Amino acid sequence: MNILVIGSGGREHALCWKIARSPMIGSLYCAPGNGGIADVATCLDLDAADHGAVIEFCQNHDIGLVVVGPEAPLVAGLVDDLTAANILAFGPTKGAAQLEGSKGFTKDMCAKYGIPTAAYGRFSDAESAKAYTREQGAPIVVKADGLAAGKGVIIAQTLDEALEAIDTIFGGAFGSAGAEVVIEEFMEGEEASFFALADGTHTLALATAQDHKAVGDGDTGPNTGGMGAYSPAPVMTDEMNARVMAEIIEPTVRAMADMGHPYKGVFFAGLMITKDGPKLIEYNCRFGDPECQVLMTRMTSDLVPLLIAAAEGNLKGKMAEWSDDAALTVVMAAAGYPGSYKKGTEIKGLERATDTTGAYIFHAGTKREDGHLLATGGRVLNVTARGKTVTEAQEKAYETIKLVDWPEGFCRSDIGWRAVEREKA
Ligand code: AMP
Ligand code: GLY
Repeated sequence: MNILVIGSGGREHALCWKIARSPMIGSLYCAPGNGGIADVATCLDLDAADHGAVIEFCQNHDIGLVVVGPEAPLVAGLVDDLTAANILAFGPTKGAAQLEGSKGFTKDMCAKYGIPTAAYGRFSDAESAKAYTREQGAPIVVKADGLAAGKGVIIAQTLDEALEAIDTIFGGAFGSAGAEVVIEEFMEGEEASFFALADGTHTLALATAQDHKAVGDGDTGPNTGGMGAYSPAPVMTDEMNARVMAEIIEPTVRAMADMGHPYKGVFFAGLMITKDGPKLIEYNCRFGDPECQVLMTRMTSDLVPLLIAAAEGNLKGKMAEWSDDAALTVVMAAAGYPGSYKKGTEIKGLERATDTTGAYIFHAGTKREDGHLLATGGRVLNVTARGKTVTEAQEKAYETIKLVDWPEGFCRSDIGWRAVEREKA
């Protein structure tokens, strides 16, 4: 089968790397791809926002499955248009992608169907948002309703901070994503990410991960798209995983079908494991980046039949198999990220690094030019390793990083610290 993957990040490199190992694969394409994806797929100069062009490419190249990586094309309805053109696509429709596209939509669904999450209010003007916030008191969480690249969430420790955040969002700091504000109860506990597939009716639990959003060691400094991750999340016991499926994922699939938006694709549930059990922080309607990189390194079964089953509605009875190993990925970013940074700096030594340690390096923002590998983004490389423990995987990842020759790059030095401390205990 010929497969087209949409996207250009480390997530799509990991997906392409995994799909390329499937015995089912014929030709693998990625639009637009990057300098690392080019090793396993044919990269295309094809604009995913031009649905007509994507459909035409699929028809001309006998594409049996399109796998949509990032959220923007899902929210823009790429899967709807592909489906209408009779092209099988993995990922939710525009209506179902509201689970990520609108925090208010998800909160209302949780309230209506009894899915555990933080108490909340939804507001379209500053005065009523402030009145509710004063009633609730701090700490409290203020969120822009729409997609804000992970930056539209303010954890306010004081009432003043919360009121200021409300003004910032309604003042247009997040553009149209801030036309509405969600105010939430501050939940205490340990965070974990949970991944599951759905085919509209049936579900299949995949695996868990934890990430590090802050740019600096000790989880300090501004938030980023993610500076590293590991899988599995030690806090997620078998019992906790079963509770998440029964109390959060399965009710969501029933709710979405009931609301006329049957959910097909992957759920990436951000959870808070509180003293009362798992509660939903938010849904993403795609694989996490860099969480996908650790998931794909641990998955031992073939991914392609699972993606097809989710897209076709045949997930019932399907299984995914996983290595008992832990996997950990460290993001190497361009100096200055998440602020301004230089583009076009040269990276050397990747092959020698991976040959020496056996780690994988997924590319998040690179291109090849005249035989040179150049950094093109903020997050640039995902150095990923497996080990019997998170500690072992962490050692291997950092050993690999020492061998990468990229003076303009940096990384956190403590990815996985929480799990490593647990393993010491
Ligand atoms: P989100 O973009 O909704 O995932 O929020 C970003 C981060 O803010 C989450 O990963 C949590 O660390 C934190 N967060 C969001 N909502 C809450 C909440 N209700 N209580 C505590 N922390 C939260
Ligand atoms: N790593 C967080 C995300 O993919 O949204």
